Amino acid sequence: MDTYVLSRRRGRALAVAALPMLALLTALPAAAQGVPEGAQLFNQRCASCHSVGQGDRVGPDLMGVLTRREESWVTTFLKSPGAMIDGGDPIANELLKKFNGIRMPDQQLTDDERKGLFAFFRDCAGKGSCQPGETGPKLASDATPEQIEHGRQLFEGRAALTNGGPPCIGCHNVRDIGVVGGGTLARDLTFSFARLGERKMTPALKDMDFPLMKDLYGKAPLTDAEQYEVKAYLASVSRDGTPPRKDRDFFYLGFVGMGVALGFIGIVLGGRGRAKN
Ligand code: HEC
Ligand code: HEC
Repeated sequence: MDTYVLSRRRGRALAVAALPMLALLTALPAAAQGVPEGAQLFNQRCASCHSVGQGDRVGPDLMGVLTRREESWVTTFLKSPGAMIDGGDPIANELLKKFNGIRMPDQQLTDDERKGLFAFFRDCAGKGSCQPGETGPKLASDATPEQIEHGRQLFEGRAALTNGGPPCIGCHNVRDIGVVGGGTLARDLTFSFARLGERKMTPALKDMDFPLMKDLYGKAPLTDAEQYEVKAYLASVSRDGTPPRKDRDFFYLGFVGMGVALGFIGIVLGGRGRAKN
């Protein structure tokens, strides 16, 4: 927590207020983790030989691989394709023959990396295809509904940020979240995209050059994919004319409400601490 202590006085009071809330919010169960990281890893280490939905390359098209094979088979295969071929596994040897005797090189993948790849494969299977490089920086208006939805989950803390940064909802509200939803420590972001536009919003989310945010996200930056998804979400709320949504579960609301309450206690304590200095 010491790392969050800020030099500016106003910033410090705000940070003290925000911390209990942030701690609660980061403890929320995460949803849909790993698709952007899986996509990035796939582009870096697998796309030279595989596509997902664009046909066979050096190796097989991996579209639907988790339905045509047992997940446990794919897990063992990814740990060491070589060992599986040499061990006489019938599927691995059939693939080897079909792909002209080219052996897939052994990959050093952590469990988390493999989970990210699996999440990416499932996401592609749901969409019917995934173009390589699809996760690069793009205009917010090109986002898919899935990307906007994932941006919302990141904003609300329902999905964890890869580098462990706190969810935006700890300090910001957007109209989409409703009356008790988001934090009120900083500006409501409902119309920020409309005001800043694509040209200013993209660097804003990259540099996070605002009070408090610079301190919090400097050490825990959003990944490129996360910056894009949050941007896409903020773009979608800024042009959404519908009333605030009501499908929020009670459990989650309770936590946010409690967080806001604790945040106010934090403001009081933070104020006292400062008075002593
Ligand atoms: C140098 C090319 C190459 C690279 C890089 C590569 N593969 Fe492969 N992959 C193959 C080939 C070729 C096969 C077919 C089996 C064999 O001959 O080893 C294969 C087979 C597979 C299979 C089994 C497919 C099926 O239909 O059952 C999976 C799953 C797989 N690769 C995943 C990956 C993942 C994930 C990565 C990246 C982390 C990756 N591969 C990187 C060449 C490659
Ligand atoms: C600890 C509190 C805090 C957290 C958490 C936080 N922000 Fe901020 N943010 C601020 C403050 C303070 C400002 C600058 C003053 C203001 O606009 O109220 C700001 C400003 C902004 C602005 C500029 C708004 C405008 O219209 O000029 C954007 C965009 C923004 N934040 C996005 C985010 C996103 C996205 C996240 C989550 C990844 C996030 N913030 C998390 C405190 C926070």
